[in-house]
Parts: sequence; C-alpha cells; structure tokens
Amino acid sequence: MNKITITRPDDWHLHLRDGEHMRAVLPDTVRRFARAIVMPNLKPPVTTAALASQYRERIRVALPAGAGFEPLMTLYLTDNTRPEEIAKARQSGIVHAVKYYPAGATTHSDSGVTDLACCYGVLEAMEAWGMPLLVHGEVTDPGVDVFDREKVFLERVLAPLVGRFTKLRVVVEHITTREAVRFVLATPARVAATITAHHLLLNRNALFAGGVRPHHYCLPVLKREEHRQALIEAAMSGNPKFFLGTDSAPHARHTKETDCGCAGIYTAHAGIELYAEAFAAAGALDRLEGFASRFGADFYRLPYNRGSVTLAQDGWGVPDEIAFGGDKLVPFRAGATIGWKIV
Ligand code: NCD
Ligand code: ZN
Ligand code: ZN
Repeated sequence: MNKITITRPDDWHLHLRDGEHMRAVLPDTVRRFARAIVMPNLKPPVTTAALASQYRERIRVALPAGAGFEPLMTLYLTDNTRPEEIAKARQSGIVHAVKYYPAGATTHSDSGVTDLACCYGVLEAMEAWGMPLLVHGEVTDPGVDVFDREKVFLERVLAPLVGRFTKLRVVVEHITTREAVRFVLATPARVAATITAHHLLLNRNALFAGGVRPHHYCLPVLKREEHRQALIEAAMSGNPKFFLGTDSAPHARHTKETDCGCAGIYTAHAGIELYAEAFAAAGALDRLEGFASRFGADFYRLPYNRGSVTLAQDGWGVPDEIAFGGDKLVPFRAGATIGWKIV
C-alpha cells in the first residue's frame, strides 16, 4: 500500500503559541487537520474561559481565508482555579478540556499545580460537567531520574487520582513508556492517551547521534527502543484509547541552540505525514484512520470531520529552517526527507 485516503484528521495536542509566532505556524496545522486541541501554556497562561475565548478569537482572525479549521480551547489548571470556572468553560461551548501541568515539569509550567489537593473542588466540578483533564504526566522531584519521571508519576499521582475521582475523564498526554501504555490499558474507557509522531519514530539515541541534538529534546524526553516499540504497538493496535496528538511545540532556533535549551519539537509541517511514515513502516497503514480521525473525536464526544486527505509514499525534503515570526525555527527532519506527502 503506497497511498491512503483517510477522513480529515484532528490533532489532539498542539502548541500554537501567540502573536507573530502563532501566525507563522498556524497554516501548517490548518493544511492538515480540521481541529486541534490548543494547549494553554502561554505567558501568561490561559486560565479562564474569558481568556480562552480571546485566544480563540486571535487564532480565528489569523486563519487563512476559507480555512475550515476549528481551534478547540483548553484551560490551564492552577492552584487557584475556581470550581465555578469549569461551569463557565463548559457553558462557553469553546473550552473542551483542562490541562494539568505539575509546576515546573515542562515549558511554561511555572504557574502549574504545586499540589493536586488544591484542585479537588475543581476536579469534582470537572466530573460533574464531563470536562476532560489533560495531563502532562511527569513528576518534578529532582531525586527521580529524568527517564523515570513518567513512570513514577503514574504510580504516585495518576493511579490515586483516577481511583479517587471515579468519573473523571483523563487524557494522559504524549505518553512515552511501556508503563504508560500498560496503565492506560488497565484503566476504564474514561482514561485515554495521545501519542506523538516523534516518540513513534525516535528513541533516545537520537538525542546523542554524533553529538548533542537540541532539536530532538522534548518533554517527556525520548526513551529507550523497547518503549518506542510499546508505543508503536499501542498506536497501531486499533484500541480507541490511543489517538493522535502531535505535541508540535515550536521554539525559536536560538532558544534551543543555547546552554540551557527549551524542550519541544516542531512537527506541524508534517503533522500527518510523519504518522503515515510510522504506520507504514509497521505495516499498519489501515489503522491510521482510526487513530488520526476517529478515536479522539469519540473521546471528546465530537462528530467526525467531513472531507478527506490522501497521503502517498513519496519523499520530500524538509528545509533547514522555517520562518517563525521575526525568528527562525528548526523543524523535525530539517535538511532531510520525509517519506510520505499529502496529494
Ligand atoms: C511543550 C512546549 O514547548 O510548550 N514542550 C515539550 O517538550 N513537549 C510543553 C509540553 O507539552 O510539555
Ligand atoms: Zn507536556
Ligand atoms: Zn505539549
């Protein structure tokens, strides 16, 4: 099979940033995806339905003419989020989830949650309103090895959370380990996960191939090959608990190529093509449509998209860098080729 047509897909985990940066990256996503769950980790973060509505409007204004694209907004959970905000968010009709960043776990997470016990009232409101909690699943304990932070988070934080809030709907974002796959499989249908293309395509050797590779640095950090294999198996299993979330996370080149570089990999320029490559390599292209265009919509209780995209096996060269407002960014596979393209 060297060609496939699928229902227009959705990206269930995307960083669009704001201002000129947002305007620079938005067309890459719009060209491929009908909808995207837009992450709220701006500076300052998107903490209320009113802020989400304003951010959505800035995105809408920046859309290319005639683009049938719907940004699905999220709220950034903090220690001070009020339960009433969940009702406002649900009633707004534009907020589809609340994002939980453990304070200090990742890019722009300093306003995140220091102690989940501060948020129990909010989590109860989320259960009542059927509002999903999206989780950056890593502990921040400096005593825990950076490669174990997801696994330890599942044990210390997520298992108790899912046990305590028995109606809470949860997406474990950008899973990277065999343990996370097992965790999701062992929980009820209200717990799902997104998987990025880069975690399907790379293992941690890519961080040190011939020297340190800042453009392969993201959080959660790339893991061993055995974990990549577990992710491939999960993504291609046809189990609706696993769906597409690129976690495309643009950063200006100079903020990654520096003595303390930012975490995040930009993949929106090939947001569906990279998955086609990964699925084709595993002989599972027939499973791509469920993963990319159906299972996430089912979880978020949204209709399937109309229209389709056709992908063909045909190599194309990725530029060395891409304009990013007044900056430049280095995209995934910069200066190399991607094996699939949209026709
Ligand atoms: C993301 C970013 O840059 O906003 N970075 C990343 O490495 N994935 C934040 C996140 O999703 O954790
Ligand atoms: Zn994250
Ligand atoms: Zn992210």
